[in-house]
Amino acid sequence: MTTHVLFRGPQSRNDNWRTLFADALPGVTWYHWPNIEDKSAIELMIVWKLPRDYQQDYPNLKVIFSVGAGVDQLDLASVPEHIQVVRMLDPGIVKGMSEFIAMHVLNIHRDTFSYINANKTCTWQPIPTMENKQRRIGVFGLGHLGQAAAKTVLELGFSVNGWSRSPKKMEQVNCFSGEAELPTFLAQTDILVCLVPLTPDTRGILNIHTLSQLPKGASIINVGRGEQLVPDDLLTLLNQQYLAYAVLDVFDIEPLPETHPLWQHSNVVVTPHIAAITQDNSAGQVLVNNVQRYIDRQPLAGLVDRKLGY
Ligand code: GLV
Repeated sequence: MTTHVLFRGPQSRNDNWRTLFADALPGVTWYHWPNIEDKSAIELMIVWKLPRDYQQDYPNLKVIFSVGAGVDQLDLASVPEHIQVVRMLDPGIVKGMSEFIAMHVLNIHRDTFSYINANKTCTWQPIPTMENKQRRIGVFGLGHLGQAAAKTVLELGFSVNGWSRSPKKMEQVNCFSGEAELPTFLAQTDILVCLVPLTPDTRGILNIHTLSQLPKGASIINVGRGEQLVPDDLLTLLNQQYLAYAVLDVFDIEPLPETHPLWQHSNVVVTPHIAAITQDNSAGQVLVNNVQRYIDRQPLAGLVDRKLGY
């Protein structure tokens, strides 16, 4: 019996994954949206965003695989309970994210952005450095990506705090959890790295109230979701020189509109949602393994807990 898989995404990725699946799982029939002979045969969908009317059009849909680490773009609340939703656990995303975070933790720690600003006025002004272990990195969200990032910055010699919704333990990381411990976590964080998933609880969580609980001179790196940050609150704290720097990779409207004041701020670095890109080869292998699990009726890796939303 063949398993019918529909991929919705770019042609080049389709060509890669179609070949990978044909070699590894010849029992799978692969379709590239919107070219589908019989929509009712589709059991598995690999997508970033769902096609409109998918519930009516694909009545036998069993699993939605996100091509990204996040699943918020799928509007989980509207996906029927009997359809499993799976997030992408791509080692390529983990590596990319850890590298991006390490790079910007180092940039902030070693004052790269101050020197870039000083270049504009030809100002030769050394800034004293501090030891890595004196700088406390706060990883906000200790999931799959957060734990890997925490390990990477630990290896660079920084002190690391972690916060998660429910209690977690990680060697050499000061772990905090739940709303009650958030203030202590924030008060001990010099560089906040936001990696929590977007849920109703985390929407707007980086606001004047939480960000002003960071110590004066702290910086933030947002690689979670744009909707988690209130930009005006961030700008207020940067303009008061309460916060030092913000590296922002995600925005509630992407691309960030040209007129947005974040573009102009000398202490803000904007990147176009590139911190961690799904890598075709490693992610394709993850999908092959998961589809094999589906065929074998085994639990899927990265299954989303519908109550938690991630
Ligand atoms: C990107 O934001 C992703 O969810 O992979």
